[in-house]
Amino acid sequence: MPNIVTQAAISGAAFSHFLFIPFLILILAIEVTDAHKLLSMITAELASGLEEVDIIIIGGGTAGSIIASRLTDAEPQSTILVVEGGPDNFRIPTIVHPALYRANFGPQSNSSLAYFSAPEQQLANRSIIIAAGSILGGGSSVNGAIYARAQQIDYDAWGTKGWSTEELLPFLKKLESFHAPTSSNTHGQDGPTDVSDGQYSCPPLRDDFISAVKQNGYLSVDDLQDLVSNNAVSTAHRYVSPETGERQDTAHTYLHPRLKDENVKNLHVLVQSQVIRILVDEDKRASGVEIRANPGLQSNNMSSKRTIKARKLVILSAGALGTPQILERSGIGDRQVLKQAGVPVISDLPGVGHDYQDHHMILVTYNSTLTPDQSVDSVINGSLNVRELLSNYDKILSWNGVDASSKLRPSQEDVAGFKPELRKVWDNYFEHSPNRPLGSLVLVSGCSVLADPTAYPAGQQYFTIGCYNTYPRSRGHVHITGPKMEDPLDFKTGFLADPEGSDVQTLAWLYKKQQKVAAKMKMQRGPASTEPLFTDDPAEHDSAIEQWVRNNVNTAYHPMGTCKMAPLENRGVVDGTLSVYGVKGLKIADMSIAPENVSGNTMSTALLIGEKAADIFINELGLKNA
Ligand SMILES: Cc1cc2nc3c(=O)[nH]c(=O)nc-3n(C[C@H](O)[C@H](O)[C@H](O)COP(=O)(O)OP(=O)(O)OC[C@H]3O[C@@H](n4cnc5c(N)ncnc54)[C@H](O)[C@@H]3O)c2cc1C
Ligand SMILES: *[C@@H]1O[C@H](CO)[C@@H](O)[C@H](O)[C@H]1NC(C)=O
Ligand SMILES: *[C@@H]1O[C@H](CO)[C@@H](O)[C@H](O)[C@H]1NC(C)=O
Ligand SMILES: *[C@@H]1O[C@H](CO)[C@@H](O)[C@H](O)[C@H]1NC(C)=O
Ligand SMILES: *[C@@H]1O[C@H](CO)[C@@H](O)[C@H](O)[C@H]1NC(C)=O
Ligand SMILES: *[C@@H]1O[C@H](CO)[C@@H](O)[C@H](O)[C@H]1NC(C)=O
Ligand SMILES: *[C@@H]1O[C@H](CO)[C@@H](O)[C@H](O)[C@H]1NC(C)=O
Repeated sequence: MPNIVTQAAISGAAFSHFLFIPFLILILAIEVTDAHKLLSMITAELASGLEEVDIIIIGGGTAGSIIASRLTDAEPQSTILVVEGGPDNFRIPTIVHPALYRANFGPQSNSSLAYFSAPEQQLANRSIIIAAGSILGGGSSVNGAIYARAQQIDYDAWGTKGWSTEELLPFLKKLESFHAPTSSNTHGQDGPTDVSDGQYSCPPLRDDFISAVKQNGYLSVDDLQDLVSNNAVSTAHRYVSPETGERQDTAHTYLHPRLKDENVKNLHVLVQSQVIRILVDEDKRASGVEIRANPGLQSNNMSSKRTIKARKLVILSAGALGTPQILERSGIGDRQVLKQAGVPVISDLPGVGHDYQDHHMILVTYNSTLTPDQSVDSVINGSLNVRELLSNYDKILSWNGVDASSKLRPSQEDVAGFKPELRKVWDNYFEHSPNRPLGSLVLVSGCSVLADPTAYPAGQQYFTIGCYNTYPRSRGHVHITGPKMEDPLDFKTGFLADPEGSDVQTLAWLYKKQQKVAAKMKMQRGPASTEPLFTDDPAEHDSAIEQWVRNNVNTAYHPMGTCKMAPLENRGVVDGTLSVYGVKGLKIADMSIAPENVSGNTMSTALLIGEKAADIFINELGLKNA
C-alpha cells in the first residue's frame, strides 16, 4: 500500500493476515517490465507539451478508463489526459487471469491500496480494511470479476432525471457482450466487456447449491441478472472473455486498444502519478490539477509537485474512497471538516465524504467432498505451480471460483419471526416492492475470499457461502484530517451502525438462511469457520448469531455514495449532469455518485456510470464546440 504510508504503518500487522499470498507476488514482477515499451502514450513522467490539455480525467479506474476512451473517440480535436495514481496494468498476469486476483492485495502490492477504518464499537472494536484498485483499470483490474446487476427499482429510486432504468438501459447494453443463456432483451451483444462463464467452473457444486436453495422454497432461473428476476437462484457469470479466459478490466477493454491505435493522437495516460488537489480559479472554475509522482512507485522524485492546466473540463473519477479526499484537499467540502483539516474553504459542500455505503458481508466456510481440482484455493495456496499454469495457459486461470448466486426475500414464516425493527423496515420498504431482494447468497468453490487459504488445514477442500445485505441502512464517512496526502484519514464504515438495528437483524436472517441451504447440500461436510456461541436456551440463539455477525461482518468491497448525485439539501454533491455544485468545469463520475440502494455487486453500476457520464460530457462539449 505505498499510497497510504501512514495508515499502512499503523495496521500493517492486521493486513498481513489478509489476502497476503507471498509466492504469487513474484509473478507480478516478471512481466511488468516489457509492458511499457508497447505503449508510447503511457508514461510515468509528464511528457512535455502536456502542461496544458483540454480535459483531465483524475483516476484511470473502472469508470475513468471508459470516459477517457469515449471522449477520445468523440473529441479528436481535444487533448485528453488521464492521471492515474497506480501503475500501468497492460498484460500483467495477476490482472489478466482472474484466478490470480488475490496476488494484488498485500503489503507489497503495487496494484491496490488499503483503507483502514477506525475501530468501531458496533463491530466489536474491529478496524475494517477496505482494499481498492490502484492501477490502470482500478477496481475492474483487481476485483473478483463477479457479474451481477442492480435491480430495475434501484436506479428508478435515485429519482434523478436521465437516470431511470429505462433511460439507462441503452448504456447497460452498450457496455457488454453477454454470452450466457437468457430470454431477456436487457443484455448487450456487441459491447467491449465480455460476460461469460469463462473456461472453467465446478458444475457439481454449483448444481448442489442451486438444488439446495430450491429445496428452501426458491425458484431457479436462467438469468438472474435481467434487472427483473428476484427471489431466485442461478448460475453466476463473470467479467471474463469466453475465447481467451481473460479478465475484462476497462483498461484492457477500452483504453489499451486506443493507445495501441496509431491513428489515435489525442489520448495520453500519466501513470504512477497522484492528483493532490484540483486547482480552482477566482471565478470558481476548475482550471487544472496539482500532481506528484506516487512516492511508493517513483521514490526518485518524491518532493516534486507539478501543475497541469485544463482548458475545458476536469473529471474526477478516483473512486468512492479517493474522490472525496481530493475534493476536500481542494477546499470543496463540509466547512467544518475543512476547517478542522486546515484547508481554506472554496466551496462549502456539506455532502462530501458523508454517507459512505457498502454491502455488509458475512462468509461461512464448510468442509466438503470437493476434489482439489474443484477448488480455486489450489491456484492460490501453492499446491498448483502457477508458473506452469501460466506457461500452459491453463483454463483454471479464467476462474474466480464463483459459479452460483441468488437474490432472496424472506418467506412468510421468516417475516413472522422478524424482530420488530426489521419487521418495520420489511413492511415499509420491501413488502410491496417485489423487485427488491432482502439479501444475496453467493457460492465460492474455496475458502472465503477474505481468508488466507493456507490458514485452513491442508489435504481438504472447502466451499464458502457469502451472505450480503443488499440494502444496508447504516452509513459511514471518509474525510481528510489535514491538507497533505500523508495526513491520516478519518474513516468509519458505519457497518451495522443503524440505530434501529435492522442491518444486523438482516444478516442474522441471512446467516440462518445459508445454514438451511448448506444443510441441504450433498457436498457439505460440516462447518470449517467459527460458529456462533449457542447456549442451550433457544431464546438466546438470535443474540448469539447477532454477536457472531458483529464479530465477523466485513466489506463486500462495494464502497459508494460519498459524493452523492442528489439535491444539495439532501447532502448531494453533484446534479444529474454530474456537475459539482458551486464549482464550474468540474464533474464527478465514479461509484461515489451512486446515491443509494444498488442491490448487486457494484462493478456493473461503475461501468454504467462510465458510459452514461461519457454521453453527458460528449453532448455538453459538442454544444460548446458547435
Ligand atoms: C477486492 C475487490 C473485489 C471486488 N469484487 C467485485 C466483483 O466481483 N464484482 C463486482 O461487480 N464488483 C466488485 N468490486 C467492486 C468494483 O470493482 C468497484 O465498485 C468498481 O471498480 C469501482 O469503480 P470506480 O470507477 O468507482 O473506482 P475505481 O475503479 O476504484 O477507480 C478509481 C481510480 O482512481 C485512482 N486514484 C485514486 N486516487 C487517486 C489520486 N489521488 N490520483 C490519481 N489517481 C487516483 C485509483 O488508483 C483507481 O485506479 C470489487 C472491488 C474490490 C476492490
Ligand atoms: C470497545 O472499546 C470500548 C472503549 O475502549 C470498550 O468500552 C468496550 O468494552 C470495547 N468492546 C469490546 C466488545 O471489546
Ligand atoms: C434505500 O433503502 C432504504 C432501506 O434500506 C430505504 O429506507 C430508502 O428509502 C431507500 N432509498 C430510496 C431512494 O429508495
Ligand atoms: C519526476 O522527475 C523528472 C525529472 O527527474 C521530471 O521531469 C518529472 O516531471 C517528475 N515527475 C513529477 C510527476 O513530478
Ligand atoms: C512495486 O514498485 C516498487 C517501486 O517501483 C518496486 O521496487 C517493487 O518491486 C514493486 N513491487 C512489486 C510486487 O512488483
Ligand atoms: C490447497 O488447496 C487445495 C484445494 O483446495 C487442497 O487440496 C490442498 O490441500 C491445499 N494445500 C494447502 C497447503 O493448503
Ligand atoms: C472441518 O474443518 C475443520 C477446520 O478446518 C476441522 O477442524 C474439522 O475436523 C473438519 N471436520 C470434518 C468432518 O472434516
